[in-house]
Amino acid sequence: MGVVRTGIPRAPTTNPARDASRASVRRFVPRASTRTGTARTLPVPASLTTMRPGTILLTGLLLAAVAATPVAEDPRSSEWLALLPDGEAKRQFLLDCTGCHQFDSQVVRPNGQPRTREDFDAAVTRMLAFSGATSGFPVMGHERAAGPTAAWIAPLITKTPTAAARPSLPAGATITEYDLPEARDLAHDVAIDSSGSVIVTGMMTHEMLVLDTTTRRFSSIAIPVNRANPRAVEVDGRGNWWVVLGSPNAVAKFNAMTSRWEVHNVGMYAHSVALDAAGNAWVNGHFTKDPVKVTRIARDGTQTSFDLPRHPTLSRAPGGPIPYEIRVAPNGIVWVSELGGNRIVSLDPVTKRSRAFEMPMTHSGPRRFDIDRNGVLWIPAYSGNELLKFDPATGAFTRYALPIRDGLPYVAKVDARRGVIWVGSGSADIVWSFDPATARFTAYPLPSRGAMVRHMAIDGAGDVWIAYGASPGRIPSRVARLHPGR
Ligand code: HEC
Repeated sequence: MGVVRTGIPRAPTTNPARDASRASVRRFVPRASTRTGTARTLPVPASLTTMRPGTILLTGLLLAAVAATPVAEDPRSSEWLALLPDGEAKRQFLLDCTGCHQFDSQVVRPNGQPRTREDFDAAVTRMLAFSGATSGFPVMGHERAAGPTAAWIAPLITKTPTAAARPSLPAGATITEYDLPEARDLAHDVAIDSSGSVIVTGMMTHEMLVLDTTTRRFSSIAIPVNRANPRAVEVDGRGNWWVVLGSPNAVAKFNAMTSRWEVHNVGMYAHSVALDAAGNAWVNGHFTKDPVKVTRIARDGTQTSFDLPRHPTLSRAPGGPIPYEIRVAPNGIVWVSELGGNRIVSLDPVTKRSRAFEMPMTHSGPRRFDIDRNGVLWIPAYSGNELLKFDPATGAFTRYALPIRDGLPYVAKVDARRGVIWVGSGSADIVWSFDPATARFTAYPLPSRGAMVRHMAIDGAGDVWIAYGASPGRIPSRVARLHPGR
């Protein structure tokens, strides 16, 4: 089955309820080994200047650089996607078909030939088998079917879009990329350890990776769980790493001081992890739906589960609302996005009350949002191609369209120090910073093609760390350090 061959995480078909008394905790001391990774730096030529949406400031050197770019540059995923007519059908397609890998030339035109309807039919049939709504890893909408998808898409991709000129890096910015030790890994999430090290979840090698930025070497730290499938990671105020282990239905805590692991079985495929001010970890069940579950793991390991309100249509359909990111606001309210359910849902752990807010655009794919210090949510609407500001005090959404078409904003990170929001693209090999004061985006093009940005973290010096991850990976797995230079 495709699941096993490609290393796609296997999800449980049953979802056994666990209570705190039955949660098992195991402790281990792992061995760390050092491996060498390679780094590549992309400095910006001094004469290149800032590019803002709608304004292209071209210096002579940039004009020369553009002219020297090969004319027939391979279109990027965002450019292929722009061939598809905007609307609900497209947004559902983006949700179903661009969450694991980009819609790149290999998908659209293998060996330079447009993929035929029959080819698409066969490919979508394969995709449905391991990730359709009735599969063990249900990340697609329940209406997705091979025949109609193939019939819709094949006639739309017969022409080749022209690759647009790339924005240049803003003056003073640099980007350095670091290859993971194993090219076939998937750098899913990135966080900054309490010692300032960059830590990365190696989803396919089942290890944690620690980057020493001075020697440019990664150490790998084994997780004491078979096929641990590390996905999300956060570091708490005491320096503990909280790592979501997808397929094993667990959350592992690593004490960096003692190098000990504790494994908490949570009885569900958790998607993301958030930490609250009291040091509790919160996880959401990616495939829970009737009801959607979030679980709190207290410092002493006690687990408490909470039910979120049912989704009006998807809780009882095949598939489900697909709970996605989880974050805790400064006032202790827990927030969860529903990628398929198109809602943002809150939970007050004290009163156990929940509220659900429908996104302003249908099928807009609220993905990895963040919360600023005023409690305002910054939500990337993946298929809606917008960044949204949501103020829980008023229930109002403010919508900001991305500066390019089909940029597929996957993740947003609040940069409190600069007062901007970083937005990572799933399709355009770009991260943007968004300044709420001016409502402007600044583009930072990434050196790699196929850099599907799933996560970001900001280090103590203010540099932004970016994890690129696609499955199947088209490029060696990497993280990048973006020094914005301002
Ligand atoms: C759960 C992750 C996932 C989802 C969702 C997904 N794919 Fe894939 N896709 C893969 C993997 C893994 C492969 C490589 C294995 C294979 O081809 O079976 C792949 C391969 C492909 C290929 C072949 C590309 C090649 O290298 O020749 C096409 C075409 C494709 N996918 C299209 C789609 C479409 C269309 C959808 C939506 C219906 C979709 N995918 C949804 C994971 C996914």
